[in-house]
Amino acid sequence: MNNLQTAMESIEKARIIAEKCPYRPKYHFLSPSNWMNDPNGPIFYKGEYHLFYQHNPYGDNWGHIHWGHAKSKNLVHWEHLPIALVPSNELGEEHCFSGCCINNNGVPTIIYTSIGPKRLSSTCAEQWLATSLDDMITWQKSPHNPILTLDLHGELDVREWRDPYVWKEGDYWYMTLGGHIHNTRAGIALLYRSRDLMQWEYLNPLCKEDKKSKITGLNWECPNFFSLGDKHVLIISPYKRVVYSVGSYMNHKFTPGNWRYIDHGRVFYAPNTMFDKQGRLIMWAWIHDGGIGGWNGCLTLPRILSLDHEKRLKFNPVPELQTLRESHFHLDNIILSPQSSQILEIVEGNCLEIIAEFEVNNPTSFGFKIFQSKDHGEFETIGYDIEKKLLWAGKEKGKIESPFSEQHIRFHIFIDKSVIEVYFNYCECLTSRMYPKSDDSEGIDLFITNNTVKLKTLDIWKLKSIWE
Ligand code: FRU
Repeated sequence: MNNLQTAMESIEKARIIAEKCPYRPKYHFLSPSNWMNDPNGPIFYKGEYHLFYQHNPYGDNWGHIHWGHAKSKNLVHWEHLPIALVPSNELGEEHCFSGCCINNNGVPTIIYTSIGPKRLSSTCAEQWLATSLDDMITWQKSPHNPILTLDLHGELDVREWRDPYVWKEGDYWYMTLGGHIHNTRAGIALLYRSRDLMQWEYLNPLCKEDKKSKITGLNWECPNFFSLGDKHVLIISPYKRVVYSVGSYMNHKFTPGNWRYIDHGRVFYAPNTMFDKQGRLIMWAWIHDGGIGGWNGCLTLPRILSLDHEKRLKFNPVPELQTLRESHFHLDNIILSPQSSQILEIVEGNCLEIIAEFEVNNPTSFGFKIFQSKDHGEFETIGYDIEKKLLWAGKEKGKIESPFSEQHIRFHIFIDKSVIEVYFNYCECLTSRMYPKSDDSEGIDLFITNNTVKLKTLDIWKLKSIWE
């Protein structure tokens, strides 16, 4: 039996356990079972979206990193495909780390970071290439690997060098890779170029950590770099929360503007982006943690990124997700006060979409109770504190800095078993995990701590599984 077959058998075994887990999401993409982390190489190819992801087929913890693979016609329903990359143990490879997938004149090409027991991720990473000649079902690693090694940088001592992101500009392919500079401990995204994807030249740092910015971190993983309107955007995952900057790109250097969190949740990490046929920029990220066994990790829903007039990112769930909507509940023009309770008595569920618009005239804290037990004694909350400008969902929280009308506050919330995604006025996002105490903790309600707010409109839908 070859490595691929053993991996597939292990996934099948764990699937039986994973599918029994009450915390396993129903409409967020995840591997059939076992561990997954970063989304890799999203690409639109021959009319379908393809997604790859960091995957351990052998357990629900990180290890033996392969590339899982799935495709979709509509960004909602996914079909699992055979594992795309298996570590080539015979070539000294132990993990196939994150990377990208590009269309090189009709030849789908993956460029990724190769790690081995003797090629540690901290000091000896290499960049490898693989191509597919059968529409991405099987992949062949190039005999020319490695295509980039650390000695490209001469004296510059780059550590934790990984996660290629490649794009085309004129006659050249460009690549950025993340890491840090050893002696200064500064996070860095480095820039390279090539005419043929094989011979690469190191140009210069694309962008370095600015020590004045407290949120950019000591090591940069998974850089994503693209133009949006007349600006450029760099996204980096600096171990802690993921940040982005809208800035300008000239002479192969990116000059960042302010750095901001792309999502305030600490369970959100390593996003990856692609432009689709309609020119929409779509992003997925890894959401940490599993349930009671057999699986660990899933992806966010696909988010469309765009620029607002202040040159900050705006976020919208792809409209295709609306096809998951089932029964609907609507309410409008209600004044909420601390005395109002059980307004949503007839609504319940743990796979829901909520869109709510509030009009606020006084300082207060307000929002939703979810996963409420039958006796109303236990619940989790998603809310916003006007005075502190604090958005929270369970244990995750974030300070909101975007300019928006304090009077009109819009929540767009996705609840999927234990996975929560909150869009706040479509200018900030917060991803969270919550574990309801029992299977029937499905109640939802509104709350407010003092004063009143007007609930202008509220829509709630039950959402169906993407696998049915
Ligand atoms: C980010 C990351 C990447 C690396 C991959 C390994 O979560 O650490 O930098 O390529 O995961 O699985």
